[in-house]
Amino acid sequence: MIELLSSDEIEKMKAAGKLVAKVLEEVEKAVKPGVTTKELDQIAYDIIVGAGGRPSCLNYGNPPFPATICASVNDEVVHGIPSTTRVLKDGDIITVDVVAELDGFNGDAARTFCVGNVDEDTKLLIERTKEAFFKGFEQCKVGNRIGDVSYAVQQHAESFGYGVVRVLTGHGIGREMHMDPDVPNYGKPGRGARIKEGMAFCVEPMINRGTYNVELLDDEWTIVTADGKPSAHYENTIVMTADGPIMTTI
Ligand code: MF3
Ligand code: CO
Repeated sequence: MIELLSSDEIEKMKAAGKLVAKVLEEVEKAVKPGVTTKELDQIAYDIIVGAGGRPSCLNYGNPPFPATICASVNDEVVHGIPSTTRVLKDGDIITVDVVAELDGFNGDAARTFCVGNVDEDTKLLIERTKEAFFKGFEQCKVGNRIGDVSYAVQQHAESFGYGVVRVLTGHGIGREMHMDPDVPNYGKPGRGARIKEGMAFCVEPMINRGTYNVELLDDEWTIVTADGKPSAHYENTIVMTADGPIMTTI
């Protein structure tokens, strides 16, 4: 069932989203060669807890996710586990995915950052993944359907020959970080749930430079590309307000 938010609840979604945006801003400043993904995780934890929030990913799922952020490097698509032994080096890319709960509501966003000098093709992948998100966002209109969003994301990414990850999707969000509906990054226009005022959901293209196939590592969390090529991710929490669609996490 898709829940619709009241205007008071939308204000709380905005506050949670703002906290997530702050975390991404601070983590981005710390991304450089020599830093560990665990150090980035600590920065995020301190900001969220310091603001009276809760890191929604911490202890989520089974096995429980052991950190605040997902830190996914190079061919890691999503759900990379921060580690004291993962040291970023020049030329890496890192996706930081943050979910925070504040006053009972969640914000969720992801960005892929460059570490030092990154090759041109990979930089283009990151840029076009962000563009794919915005193609999807343009379709977030009351009366449209989720499939319109999915299709727009897919068309943009595939126009460059990229692989659009299929086994993971965007999702509804609110009191929980994962709610109905699913928001796939591929699909057909005119299909799926109709977009209504009060809906909140995450659009989050996960785009591979190679094929869309992915694999799960033995840690039972980290998802990597099957062909070892890099992957980028861009996500915001979107709320359909009376004044139109907004991104709470930007
Ligand atoms: N933004 C990620 C998602 O929507 C957050 C995952 S947190 C984790 O899947 F705990 F599941 F890792
Ligand atoms: Co998400």
